[in-house]
Amino acid sequence: MRIIGVIGAGQMGSGIAQVSAAAGYNVYLSDLKIELAEKAKESVAKALRRLVEKEKIGVKEAETTLSRIEPVASFEPMAQADLIIEAATEKEEIKRKIFESAGKILGHQAILASNTSSIPITRMAQASPDPARFIGIHFFNPVPVMGLIEVIKGLATSDETVQTVRDYCAALGKEVVFAEDEPGFVVNRILLPMINEAVFVLGQGTANILDIDKGCRIGLNHPMGPLELADFVGLDTCLDIIMVLYNTTGDSKYRPAPLLVKYVEAGWLGRKTGRGFYDYSGDAPVPTR
Ligand code: CAA
Repeated sequence: MRIIGVIGAGQMGSGIAQVSAAAGYNVYLSDLKIELAEKAKESVAKALRRLVEKEKIGVKEAETTLSRIEPVASFEPMAQADLIIEAATEKEEIKRKIFESAGKILGHQAILASNTSSIPITRMAQASPDPARFIGIHFFNPVPVMGLIEVIKGLATSDETVQTVRDYCAALGKEVVFAEDEPGFVVNRILLPMINEAVFVLGQGTANILDIDKGCRIGLNHPMGPLELADFVGLDTCLDIIMVLYNTTGDSKYRPAPLLVKYVEAGWLGRKTGRGFYDYSGDAPVPTR
């Protein structure tokens, strides 16, 4: 396997492009507009420059890695790809449209994968040309730092597809956990109820933002508290995932915290919009409650 296509050039897509290029793959990167893919390549360049400054990699290695990423305006060049990874927004209808379009150019041996954090793989495979070559490859944010990938096999995914993806993950130097195709898979099934509960705790006035985060950071030894982490992941993404858990299981334990819904409705989506549970407009984040 030599060529990877990445559809969606947000924080996940650009991270996937970076680690794939660093592992020696040539990467085609696309988004709704080529300018977005070009901007993502600039952010990878910045991340690589930081690694050079910290003497983690050499200048030549950074240049070679960056040169392997090519922003593209359409899916057509990805006809050469051995693996296409969709990393678009966590909305099933958008993802299905991508699989239908990318499916038209997908090579006869190539694999189509989704970086979905919670949507069932077996169901989305129906929008792809060959469910045997459809699989979930779930990265964690920030992709260059986090050492884990969750691999999710749909009902029809072939063992050959699983093996190829296992080899790809190993080439990236990541650990793999295998999850059955259940809503939220493993990690988000556990993480999202925790984040959601933290928002209930905040909404009920049990503690303020700083104390909720401090409690989990120090009391549980987590690198970030749940509200900081929610801002980092994106409150819209958190709500999308909890809604998938709620709607697909029908279990009321997954009902979204009303305050989470309110923040998303207000457009306070976390770091990416400059405000979520914290305000990011100054030098240091300031809690909003
Ligand atoms: N890209 C690349 N590298 C990054 C980075 C980024 N966005 N952010 C931080 N880093 C690197 C830093 O350069 C630094 O590297 P060195 O140690 O080599 O110098 C290292 O990560 C630590 O960073 P900092 O010192 O700046 O800050 P920190 O110690 O506070 O760590 C963090 C930052 C790594 C993000 C850490 O807070 C952390 O691990 N947080 C939890 C992240 C997490 O849980 N991610 C999973 C989210 S859930 C998910 O992704 C699944 C989903 O579907 C929702």
